[in-house]
Amino acid sequence: AAVLLLNGPNLNLLGTREPAVYGTTTLAQIEAEVEMQVRQRGHTLSAFQSNSEAELIDRVQGAASDGTAFVLINPAAFTHTSVALRDALAAVAIPFIEIHLSNPHAREPFRHTSYFSDLAMAVVAGFGLHSYRYATDAALRYLADADA
Ligand code: DQA
Repeated sequence: AAVLLLNGPNLNLLGTREPAVYGTTTLAQIEAEVEMQVRQRGHTLSAFQSNSEAELIDRVQGAASDGTAFVLINPAAFTHTSVALRDALAAVAIPFIEIHLSNPHAREPFRHTSYFSDLAMAVVAGFGLHSYRYATDAALRYLADADA
């Protein structure tokens, strides 16, 4: 099956961006790890990062017709602001897991609300790089169960 990994604004800066909060792993390393995990189970990964809300929405809309079976998404700051990106995920109705490197609930109050969590199959937050690993593992289990 085709898995789509989406990363929102400023995540292109991972590695140098607030390393005390987000770690020193780069986005390229995260994408490579997730791709390896997904391919080991015979699935394919498409990875896309954008700082633009419009581009992320367009990519989600595209997922409706390109065979995407599952979405892994770290909406970054759009988590707390974007009704439009939320609506795109609701529109395509593809199961997704919301990912965060940090635990937003342990941070500023404006990070405590998410426009995605109530639609998400699950939320994985606070494990740094491992948030992506655990979320990918859960997605792979879901896809295996869906296949059986
Ligand atoms: C983040 C948490 C968000 O609050 C923040 O705006 C980000 C990254 C995370 O992965 O911890 O950009 O989504």
